[in-house]
Amino acid sequence: MVAVETTARDYSITGAESIRAIQDGMADGEWFQAQIDPDRLKELSARTNARAAVDTLLWIALIVGTGVLAWNVRDSWWAIPAFLAYGALYGGSADARWHECGHGTAFRTSILNDLVYYPACFMLARQAMFWRWSHFRHHTDTIVRGRDNEIVFQRPASFGRTILMFTNVKNGPQAMWATVQTALGRVDEVAAELIPPEDHPRFIRQARIFVAIWAGAIVWSLLSWSIWPVMFIGGPTIYGAWLVVFFGLTQHAGLQENVLDHRYSTRTVLMNPIFRFLYLNMNYHVEHHMFPAVPYHALPKLHEEIKDQLAPPNPNTWHAYAEIIDAFKHQRVDPDWEIPNRQIPDVPGRRAQIVQLTQWVSQDGRTDLGPADMAPSEIRPVQVDGVDFVLARTESGEYLLADRKCTHGDADLSQGLILGCEIECPKHNGRFDLLNNGAPTRKPVREPLGVRTVNHSNGRLWIQQD
Ligand code: FES
Repeated sequence: MVAVETTARDYSITGAESIRAIQDGMADGEWFQAQIDPDRLKELSARTNARAAVDTLLWIALIVGTGVLAWNVRDSWWAIPAFLAYGALYGGSADARWHECGHGTAFRTSILNDLVYYPACFMLARQAMFWRWSHFRHHTDTIVRGRDNEIVFQRPASFGRTILMFTNVKNGPQAMWATVQTALGRVDEVAAELIPPEDHPRFIRQARIFVAIWAGAIVWSLLSWSIWPVMFIGGPTIYGAWLVVFFGLTQHAGLQENVLDHRYSTRTVLMNPIFRFLYLNMNYHVEHHMFPAVPYHALPKLHEEIKDQLAPPNPNTWHAYAEIIDAFKHQRVDPDWEIPNRQIPDVPGRRAQIVQLTQWVSQDGRTDLGPADMAPSEIRPVQVDGVDFVLARTESGEYLLADRKCTHGDADLSQGLILGCEIECPKHNGRFDLLNNGAPTRKPVREPLGVRTVNHSNGRLWIQQD
């Protein structure tokens, strides 16, 4: 008989592993990115309100429909499947809506993303501010021990922990209790590590709103001496969460930790259309991590573009689960065990190169930046006196010269996206207002971007040197 290792690995983001990850260069690392034509990537990154509106309205209709059904059959055995379906839509598939709207990629219009993001957070008992910042970190340091706060399949694998995850009888109440603590004004050390101090008051305010709604449902149940109010509000966060875990485990479970290449730490699974609707295409998870600016509906096309550079996808969900269960059995007794033969192609990936597209002529204090031939929403990498910038053209046609590195995490903004008068970072979807001195407009960016006005005359772009 093989002895089971009892010492759990340290996944805390405030402990010794965190220091080690930083010392080992695993924090804010340079990640492999598959090669793709920049114009095609831009095309795939295009945002629209229509597609997400249809998917969201259908989702809401299904929640209301199953809710009405559950209410009507509440005194019969039919209540069990009806509440299971209602719970899965409320406390399960809210996860994918939380995720996509948190990235700001579901809808083109920011406020529509927020209109779905906050209710979805409530449905999942996820504190909105905390999870925004936690997920930024998850994308910066994916499955890096001591850095990523969202590693759910921890080693050594544990049968009891997995059952608890699926039932959510531990994590659900814990998340609600953590929200109560926040509502009382407490910011614990993990929250303090992830959330910048200026966001703490909003973090606390949001928790108070969630707690007030839960308290309302509990009081309603007590006054009416009926379980039904909490079965419809708050309760599904616990009894519907199995679907979050069912989909969520396929993302990274059993795959490598501490490796700066999503092809080793992340899984793409080909799923059926129903699963893909419930999960908003997050089964294309490697693609999502490599290019988080691409909205969920374009991920299948992105997959087609880059699949030759990735490991072969799991052909279906059950295949992915067979792989996870096998990894579970091995990693339960040997936490260092890795899934063999994932067939990751040996391809060079994308190299971060400066593409010099413009000509430079300095005269009379002017620096010529080349022809004024950019299309609206185009971004072009340039150098001025050996320093990297991007030339950007807003949707309404203004030209601007901006710093090339994002002020949040050094990501390359030449791979970003223009949305109106804003430039969006490709790494965490942070945004800067180009027409308002590069002011940050979307988290996680907090510092403004350096921006200069670009003039154009006689078909040329130029800046006036000081
Ligand atoms: Fe995080 Fe740009 S690197 S938003």
